[in-house]
Amino acid sequence: MSGHGTPTPMLSRKSGPLKGEAQVPGDKSISHRSLILGAMSVGETRISGLLEGEDVLDTAKAMRAFGADVADLGNGEWVVYGVGVGGFAEPAQVVDCGNSGTGVRLIMGSMATTPITVTFTGDASLNKRPMARVTDPLALFGAQAYGRAGGRLPMTIVGAREPVPVRYRVPVPSAQVKSAVLLAGLNAPGQTVVIEKEATRDHTERMLAGFGAEIMTEDTPEGRVITLTGQPELSPQVIAVPRDPSSAAFPVCAALLTEGSDVLVPNIGLNPTRAGLFSTLREMGADLTYENLRHEGGEPVADLRARFSPDMQGIEVPAERAASMIDEYPVLSVVACFAKGKTHMPGVKELRVKESDRIDAMAKGLRAAGITVDEGEDWWTVHGRGFGDVPGGAVVETHLDHRIAMSFLVMGFATEKPMTVDDAGPIATSFPIFEPLMTRLGAVIEGV
Ligand code: S3P
Repeated sequence: MSGHGTPTPMLSRKSGPLKGEAQVPGDKSISHRSLILGAMSVGETRISGLLEGEDVLDTAKAMRAFGADVADLGNGEWVVYGVGVGGFAEPAQVVDCGNSGTGVRLIMGSMATTPITVTFTGDASLNKRPMARVTDPLALFGAQAYGRAGGRLPMTIVGAREPVPVRYRVPVPSAQVKSAVLLAGLNAPGQTVVIEKEATRDHTERMLAGFGAEIMTEDTPEGRVITLTGQPELSPQVIAVPRDPSSAAFPVCAALLTEGSDVLVPNIGLNPTRAGLFSTLREMGADLTYENLRHEGGEPVADLRARFSPDMQGIEVPAERAASMIDEYPVLSVVACFAKGKTHMPGVKELRVKESDRIDAMAKGLRAAGITVDEGEDWWTVHGRGFGDVPGGAVVETHLDHRIAMSFLVMGFATEKPMTVDDAGPIATSFPIFEPLMTRLGAVIEGV
């Protein structure tokens, strides 16, 4: 499956019971960061459990283009020989980040304070997404950006020759922007300070500390203040990537919606900046439990057990929870169709600038499947019909967005008539084994 070739339409139909273990792949956010920080340290970083999806493979390719030695040892084991902070070479070719906003934004940050010139591009989805949110703060370090109208890719970044440290208040809740500023701060002298009003995923901060950088996080009345001391020598690490809660969301939600299901999803990272969906589902009345709760590599981890939950209720999802479940709203909106009453989701403007406009893409598909959806610029409401009463039978456009494709395929496991997605190819960006994994649990997915 590829997001760049001929579209691959796919259909899912009423399934169940889903039974067994779902071994989902490694965390996408942590996988990107492992490769980038590995490339910025001096010596050999070993990574196990790396997500080998297209997005992360594009980042691995980019790190090679910057001069790091990146080798795939097989079975999710990778080794990176880093070139050190400020050691990136100028790539000979355009750097193509495919579908990945995280990849391109983090890499832009990592090269912006090194005196090299790099041109970035991506696929049709990525080339529509806003980059000014990253290039604005990078300009404060002294980097220059030349992109298309509206700050879109393809874009050339000229790294700062004499970078200065920056104090930056992130204007949108975005871990990508925060991380780009921190990665740029690595090669600036003195202290770079990032302030975020709402806490977003903190994998960059945790990993920077692990690689030996001096980094401090304080919760203050003005928000979370992160202070990084520039120009450290990063020491290579041994990293075990936990499994991705954003990928776990799909088998978990599928189990909640299909009669008789009982699915175990082992070893899922439950970092509080990522686990908002699971709290929300439990508040809706989902039979979802955390088993064997423990800590691994500085991150909380548990085995998730999800069972068929026919009596879920719609809820008001707290706006302040949005950052901790921003990628999970598409699949939550599917669950909301099978709950009784309305699920209101405020404070989610960022959904409009993901791989697709996710409010628009989901609202269109859900309406075509017989669901009432209300929406505004930064909120939406799904009117649940309850279990056994969701018509389905729609063909939906996925707009090169993996999470839209997987969400509607999960929906089809429980609708009265099958659901069809126009292109399942982009699923390979984050969850290449989605189809065989779901099929093994007992779900019915077919090519069309
Ligand atoms: C990510 C941050 C989020 C998320 C994306 C991964 C990251 O994006 O949607 O899938 O790894 O930092 P924003 O920073 O734009 O919210």
